[in-house]
Amino acid sequence: MTTPSKTSTRQIRQDFLDFFASKGHTIVPSAPLVPGNDPTLLFTNSGMVQFKDVFLGAEKRSYVRAADVQRCLRAGGKHNDLDSVGYTARHHTFFEMLGNWSFGDYFKKDAIAWAWELLTEVWKLPKERLLVTVYHTDDEAYDLWHDMIGIPADRIVRIGDNKGAPYASDNFWQMADTGPCGPCTEIFYDHGEHIAGGPPGSPDEDGDRFIEIWNLVFMQFDRQPDGTLVPLPAPCVDTGMGLERLAAILQHVHTNYEIDLFQALIGKAAELTGTADRENKSLRVIADHIRACSFLIVDGVLPSNEGRGYVLRRIIRRALRHGWMLGVRQPFFHKMVGTLVELMGEAYPELPAARELVEKALKAEEERFAETLDSGMRIFDDVASRVKDGVIPGADAFRLYDTYGFPVDLTADIARERGLAVDMAGFDAAMEQQRETARAAGKFTSNTGLPAELVAQMAPTGFLGYDHLDAGGLQVVALLKGGRPVQAVEAGDEAVVFLDNTPFYAESGGQVGDIGVLAEQGVEFDVTDTQKFAGQFHGHLGRVAKGALKVGDHVVASVDGARRASTILNHSATHLLHAALREVLGTHVQQKGSLVAPDRLRFDFSHFQPVTAAELAEVERRVNAQIRANHEAEVHHMGMQEALDFGAMALFGEKYGENVRVLRMGDYSTELCGGTHVSRTGDIGVFKLVGESGVSAGVRRIEALTGQGALDHIADEERRLDEAAALLGGNASDVVDKIRALTDRQKKLERELESLKAKAASSATSDLAGAAVDVGGIRVLASRLEGFDAKALRDAVDRLKQQLGDSVIVLAGAEGGKAALVAGVNGAAMGKVKAGELLSHIASQIGGKGGGRPDLAQGGGEDGPALASALKGVSGWVQQRLD
Ligand code: SER
Repeated sequence: MTTPSKTSTRQIRQDFLDFFASKGHTIVPSAPLVPGNDPTLLFTNSGMVQFKDVFLGAEKRSYVRAADVQRCLRAGGKHNDLDSVGYTARHHTFFEMLGNWSFGDYFKKDAIAWAWELLTEVWKLPKERLLVTVYHTDDEAYDLWHDMIGIPADRIVRIGDNKGAPYASDNFWQMADTGPCGPCTEIFYDHGEHIAGGPPGSPDEDGDRFIEIWNLVFMQFDRQPDGTLVPLPAPCVDTGMGLERLAAILQHVHTNYEIDLFQALIGKAAELTGTADRENKSLRVIADHIRACSFLIVDGVLPSNEGRGYVLRRIIRRALRHGWMLGVRQPFFHKMVGTLVELMGEAYPELPAARELVEKALKAEEERFAETLDSGMRIFDDVASRVKDGVIPGADAFRLYDTYGFPVDLTADIARERGLAVDMAGFDAAMEQQRETARAAGKFTSNTGLPAELVAQMAPTGFLGYDHLDAGGLQVVALLKGGRPVQAVEAGDEAVVFLDNTPFYAESGGQVGDIGVLAEQGVEFDVTDTQKFAGQFHGHLGRVAKGALKVGDHVVASVDGARRASTILNHSATHLLHAALREVLGTHVQQKGSLVAPDRLRFDFSHFQPVTAAELAEVERRVNAQIRANHEAEVHHMGMQEALDFGAMALFGEKYGENVRVLRMGDYSTELCGGTHVSRTGDIGVFKLVGESGVSAGVRRIEALTGQGALDHIADEERRLDEAAALLGGNASDVVDKIRALTDRQKKLERELESLKAKAASSATSDLAGAAVDVGGIRVLASRLEGFDAKALRDAVDRLKQQLGDSVIVLAGAEGGKAALVAGVNGAAMGKVKAGELLSHIASQIGGKGGGRPDLAQGGGEDGPALASALKGVSGWVQQRLD
């Protein structure tokens, strides 16, 4: 299909941004799919997520109008479309949302007028094909559409609370169970009579004829956990238009999967899977899922078994199963990434930047799932063929999950294709049972929320600690005791103290919180930790050691300087380590977490195999070279975009404001960071790696020491080396040779011991040969040997066979009340007597069992009186066989 380029998705993004720029909007880049510091939300599910705090009045930006193209994900959480992808014309996990925003600036009138202008004048959609909905009580929006725009009344539909509760309506939008929300008006496009479906609000509204293209939300409230609606500080506008469905209209195709972008992805998927039929539903699933999976990885998520990582794993595995259905048995999914980069890399530069990581992470997950996908599918087929009531039992779904790595929604998806269901309650019960058993690792719960009234009355804490460790005249602005605000605390009380300004660093960016003392005349408060509350208030946690502290008091704050001084060495070294890892291992290395403590540092990062000893040595060497270069650690304040242009590395999942702090050490490391650092890299002194390990699939951890800690560690290692050398009677320089000599000698002794044992066994058995009796020309020997194990018995039987020629031999090795049995048949006895039969005959008499080949069998049983008589009976048994 050739698409006129003026309606390509690329062009539509541009037209949208140009239009709103011409109306005074600031163009803002897409935020990541993982919302920064927002635990209420799994993923960015709409354009407004990055502006949530701006709506709530908690964050100010330099603009009041903005427009963007936001990448969104609706998989897991409140908005979840994963199960529908592939089955419908328009559902996606990942999609792009075009949005324009007013933060207390324009409202309904302009929002409606501009939406109409863009659709009908720039993109020239026929007016008679458009209709709109409004929230049932929103007369203002109704009148604007009717009087200002001129839409006839029969094409304006009022929609009430059609979802079973107050404000639960298609025309009342909310981001999540709490947060900004408000009534909305939606613009629909009529794809024409030839498509089934009715207008919004009609019984068959779910058909494909009338398609919602643009949602204009008039944000007016902040929904509370108890369901009440609190007005926002100022009314705002949040609009969202799905790029894919708009492209379908402008490109005159009916389903989103026919637009230029999806056709290219489907083409690639068809090529990789060798599929001729481009309408195949599985190709659509793969084309949809590669976008979601790639951008999740770009935004810092890796496949795992919980939280966001598990959603990613589920999407990848669903895509892989569809590839499997198309007959693919080799990793293919990661090969889609190149095409995606060509299609979307220009709009989202972070995608090409992370390409290597995305490909590696996907390939690793493909290889991992390949090990169980095939057998899991066989298990599924087996279970499905036995199902009688059309329901896959929960226990089987759980086995597929637990042993074969089939997420339950994947099993449900496969079941649905065969007209079956999954017993979800049964699955949940099995899962719960397993959790009960595994409920060991206690989950960390953040305890740094603040009562709303405190947030409203306090200004964010001013941080003085970049330049000062001590400061006086600081005012106590709030106190918490037992989590509740109080006016005063006294000696012995555990409390959290909030000051207007403080030199105490609150834990963030991996750096631990400061400890120290707050004091005034006759009062002392020991600070044992400092944490950030509600994202912006430094809470000093600790205990009143002396006197009483009241809100309004003034204190002198003193940070434990020695502890802070060691901490900053580790923090600056972490930045150098990050840069060195990217140099040595590749730019797929992304920081996944860190701990910067006074005594050590820990750095987690994405990488798909253990770091080799040579790589580690090289990383350590490079970090130390940068320390010796003694670069100045420069701090710059600048706009976020400027910082990125400056080459600063931003960490995923962190929320940065418009203005950021950038730390630069020479040309080597430039990172966004709010932490405290050395003045020059030379202050770090020395950097020593002490550990490398795996944390989870695709995540490695490095532990290291700096400064005096590193020197102490080296001294400690030296001491142990000297100790070892002394034990060997040498010194540190010849210790390796001494150990080599020692291990060589040990190996030699072990060999000698082995051969002595063999000799002893053979002389024991040669004595035995004399005890054989003659039964019809066959030499029969049955004997009990103290302390022989099965191997020694086999060796002995082999030797005796040679000595005795035509023979039947049974040896019982007695050890600790048990008897190992070996029976052998050789020469002319073969064909007449079977070793296996003889062995079971004996074993059955001593409460054991055994069996084997006609010439050699083994087994075991009890060592006791029965063994002696069983052995005695052997010649009689052989005699019977010969008769
Ligand atoms: N928040 C609204 C939506 O997601 C408009 O952007 O539909």
